[in-house]
Amino acid sequence: MAEKPSAAPPAARPGLSTIAVHAGEDRQKLGDAMTDPIFCTSTYTFADTRAAIDFIEQKQPREEYGRYGNPSEKVVERKLAALDGGEAALLFATGMSAFVGLLMARLSAGDEVVFFDECYHRSREFCTKHLSRFGVRTRQVPACDYDAMEAAITPSTKLLISESPTNPHLSVVDLERFVAIGRRHKIETLIDATLGTPYNVRPLEAGVDYVLHSATKYLGGHNDLLAGAIIATTEKLEPIRKLRGIMGAISSPHNIYLLERGLKTFPLRMEQHNRNGQAVAEFLASHPRIERVYYPGLADHPYHQIARAQMRGFGGLVTFAVKGADWRATARVVDAVRLPRIGPSLGGVESLIEQPLVMSYYECTPEERRRFGIADNMIRLSCGVENTEDLIADLAQALDAV
Ligand SMILES: Cc1ncc(COP(=O)(O)O)c(C=O)c1O
Repeated sequence: MAEKPSAAPPAARPGLSTIAVHAGEDRQKLGDAMTDPIFCTSTYTFADTRAAIDFIEQKQPREEYGRYGNPSEKVVERKLAALDGGEAALLFATGMSAFVGLLMARLSAGDEVVFFDECYHRSREFCTKHLSRFGVRTRQVPACDYDAMEAAITPSTKLLISESPTNPHLSVVDLERFVAIGRRHKIETLIDATLGTPYNVRPLEAGVDYVLHSATKYLGGHNDLLAGAIIATTEKLEPIRKLRGIMGAISSPHNIYLLERGLKTFPLRMEQHNRNGQAVAEFLASHPRIERVYYPGLADHPYHQIARAQMRGFGGLVTFAVKGADWRATARVVDAVRLPRIGPSLGGVESLIEQPLVMSYYECTPEERRRFGIADNMIRLSCGVENTEDLIADLAQALDAV
């Protein structure tokens, strides 16, 4: 009998869009629905006491109580792990609760963390103001200064932390060097890759232990939800998962649905964010009213070479400084744009613009702002997925108008 022609071999590793659409999902879902249902329940019932005991003795995996998990959360966690090429993921209510949960689970009184000082201001605030109350010491070193990071390590150091790219300066960490320091000293490493995203940067492949995302940003992508995620090995995530169940920093069923829906188009959206970020950065870099543009896709950016080697694209966030402008003149540029809305956050389909001095650092002293590298004339623009020409035309009219 003639052999049946064999089916075409499956691709060795599916592409990121295929992963975004299908990974983590059961092929046949409850009620034969195309999409995952929203499990709007706070508790899960047992048929009898035997079923409850089987669950407690871990003989029967299932859900028990909403604070510990939700079936569609598991789907999103598998999808997030697949997108980052990790073994497992843990979903949180917000990026900050993911950060706090990881640090609280990993650190004890007497431990130390070392982090690169360019970062989301609330992450810094949690380390310096709150971890310190529990006896954990934080040492901040200048971003991408690997010698300073190594010099700050003591026998008590338990975690090296950085963002890449950093917010709002867009500095790019050499992940191999960062990981090498951790391995040399047997210290775990954490990269907040919120700005990088799994589309543009692959920290786990470089050997980083934990990748963290504010999924509120590019992963959710629609400025309509808050979420956070940590991707690591199942073993590393287990104590964090247990603490999350106690903290209750869990995403709600409706929120999880929105995130799963947003993730399906994540790689598609990133292509346009990358295109817009690059084009807008190039436009601003050639504009006579602009003093400086922070964007790793520009050839004169201090971290351009490492960004090119390490990143697929450079994202939608562009930070720039207006030439000769004090904070009021800078605010006039922000107020003159018509397309991007004024507000915090980034990574959504709608462009957002803000002046870091006003939005995140208003309560800091000028000395603190200098230390954090926040200039009065800085503007942070999160390019959405609008047409590139429209964003550029809008910025051109805003710069001409003031
Ligand atoms: C780099 C970075 N990490 C973490 C966070 C915190 O995320 P969330 O707002 O989801 O708590 C943010 C928020 O802006 C961020 O920019």
